[in-house]
Amino acid sequence: MSAALRIGVFDSGFGGLTVLRELLPQAPQAEFFYVGDTARLPYGSKSRATIARYAVESAQFLVDQGIEYLVIACNTASALALDEIRAAVRIPVLGVIETGAASAAAASRSRDVLVLATDATVQIHAYDQACAQHGLRALEKACPLLVPLIEEGWTEHPVTAEVLRIYLDEALRQAQAANSQPDTVLLGCTHYPLLRPLLARTLPVAMRFLDSAATTAEHVRADLVARGLMPKQGIALAAAAQMTDADEPAQEAVGARCHFYATDSIEKFQRLGSRFLGRAMHTVTLMDIGG
Ligand code: DGL
Repeated sequence: MSAALRIGVFDSGFGGLTVLRELLPQAPQAEFFYVGDTARLPYGSKSRATIARYAVESAQFLVDQGIEYLVIACNTASALALDEIRAAVRIPVLGVIETGAASAAAASRSRDVLVLATDATVQIHAYDQACAQHGLRALEKACPLLVPLIEEGWTEHPVTAEVLRIYLDEALRQAQAANSQPDTVLLGCTHYPLLRPLLARTLPVAMRFLDSAATTAEHVRADLVARGLMPKQGIALAAAAQMTDADEPAQEAVGARCHFYATDSIEKFQRLGSRFLGRAMHTVTLMDIGG
């Protein structure tokens, strides 16, 4: 076993690769073990008990790979299964709801935040509760059509632009009715960072959006340093230099630091996953979940 810090990243599928992409420069010495439960996605439309069962199985698999720290990149699993995952493993587990709420608290002046997320995440009001801890009011909007559109690769497609506009119009009307004035939009789903250019064009100018992948990676780094798992120095800059897509050694370096596991088609994981990770994925292992 190598001496590098082993970090596990779990997601229902490909979307958590947006988080891994941001984590790579934040923890340049770490080795990453990523599980995408592609055979059983989407989680966003499933029940709490099912999501918890699936997520705990993957967390235990990652622990068996020797990880010392676990990031639940999936918003839905963080919202519905974090307690169960923490109870099942003996290592620190970080979920993305709390980190997203903390970042929104730092960014919002109006103290009203709009959260875009999956159905399951919205139903359980996880962001509402986490934001309330920071004195923020959250208006949560389920956007169930966005995940399939993004997985289809339609991140700039007119259909996606129209769907996003409809969701935002509905949310802003609800905000008005609730006397809420959100100035910050929290992207509460792993997939939504891929809509950054579209969001930038669609949102009213007075509103800014927070990319939960980037904010999660910053929180992970701070938590690793606070726990003494990573030195404070030499963090982002060294790795940022390794992260240019055109740079083949950097590509190899990332490949050597990352171990990818998927529960369904390897070929599909490589094809779709490379869009989320922003680089090619050469080696992916099939994780057998039985059944
Ligand atoms: N990973 C999920 C999330 O962040 C989106 C995809 C799914 O529904 O499984 O909520």
